[in-house]
Amino acid sequence: MDCNFITTFPELLQSVLRESILKRAQEKGLLRTRVLNLRDYATDRHRTTDDTPYGGGTGMVMKAEPIFQVIDQLFSEGKNLRIIMPSPQGKPFSQEMALAWSQESRPLIFICGHYEGIDERVRLGLPAEEVSLGDYVLTGGELASLVMVDATVRLIPGVLGDAQSMECDSFMNHFLDFPHYTRPVQFRGMNVPEVLLSGNHEAIRCWRKKQGVKNTLQKRPDLLSQRSLDTEEKRFLEEIQEERVGDPGKKWAC
Ligand code: 6GU
Repeated sequence: MDCNFITTFPELLQSVLRESILKRAQEKGLLRTRVLNLRDYATDRHRTTDDTPYGGGTGMVMKAEPIFQVIDQLFSEGKNLRIIMPSPQGKPFSQEMALAWSQESRPLIFICGHYEGIDERVRLGLPAEEVSLGDYVLTGGELASLVMVDATVRLIPGVLGDAQSMECDSFMNHFLDFPHYTRPVQFRGMNVPEVLLSGNHEAIRCWRKKQGVKNTLQKRPDLLSQRSLDTEEKRFLEEIQEERVGDPGKKWAC
């Protein structure tokens, strides 16, 4: 995957791209990143990338010309591009989008601007998709882009060590994850569920699947309505609901 970032804060992006899984994905040749400093594309002597707003008011507005300069240069490299503008006005980012992007053959271009701060003609004049992380406002698109790229890159085959760890993810199938335990068996009076020590793989599979259903029902019931359940999941759901009715004082006992 090819990710390009257009930014006035190149260090902010580099500091994250040089660490951990994103770093290793690049070393493995599964991810290529390029951070383009918008200031290098400014057209005036002082290399300004923003200016005061027409109509008055506080704050600065990012100029359209330098952004179009970078995009023109990227297009001149001869590739089709997928241009993304992180913005709270955008389509909500999701696991499905991350999966689609992880399979995208076009280079991704992130225009890291500032909310209420990019000249509207960038949005009007470019074939860009606005994408949002949620209903809150971040100071700029850099952190938002990094979050989206992080969620996307880990879905590229070979990036995570264990392919299974991604298939079991929360949200990959609209269910939350099951609980995880490691040594010791007893910690501060809390025991590891016995089934996990049983060595019975089928029993463990069932327990985990049921716990995933239970977690989802308890914490994110809205997710359950987003997809149909298989017969086993329906049975687990019924069992969980019966357990709740049977012992109302202990709402979430296994
Ligand atoms: Cl994608 N960008 C910015 N600047 N703020 C946001 C956002 C994105 N998503 C939520 N808030």
